[in-house]
Amino acid sequence: MKNDLRQVATEARLRAYAPYSRFLVGAALSLEDGQVISGCNIENVSFSLTICAERVCAAKAIEQGAKTFTAMAIVADTDMPIVPCGACRQFLAEFAPSLAITTWTLKGDSREFSLSELLPLPNQGILQVPRGT
Ligand code: THU
Repeated sequence: MKNDLRQVATEARLRAYAPYSRFLVGAALSLEDGQVISGCNIENVSFSLTICAERVCAAKAIEQGAKTFTAMAIVADTDMPIVPCGACRQFLAEFAPSLAITTWTLKGDSREFSLSELLPLPNQGILQVPRGT
């Protein structure tokens, strides 16, 4: 399963549109029903409109009606496995605050995280009364 996700992310990486940074990233998200959704980064000449591979995946999944994300793989060509940026952490936490994330180098080194360690307290105080108060 982990290797299937890695494979989908590795293939998606080659579809990245990254002419400005030339840094290609692929991601793959598994859903409760076993489906796997791919994503790649999509850059823009304005730079700030760039979308990371992780957010592309999540947006595609939601548009398909998915409610529960089970795991994500991320692949980039780096010496050390990358970690998702802060914006992606917050975006993913909206749907899966404890998402299991494995990030891979092209060579096959990996690191595993729970999104809850990368982004503690994703919603506290935002548009909701904290639990237990
Ligand atoms: N990028 C991702 O797609 N995911 C990450 O986790 C890190 C960064 C993209 C954004 C931009 O297109 C390029 O990589 C360089 O930051």
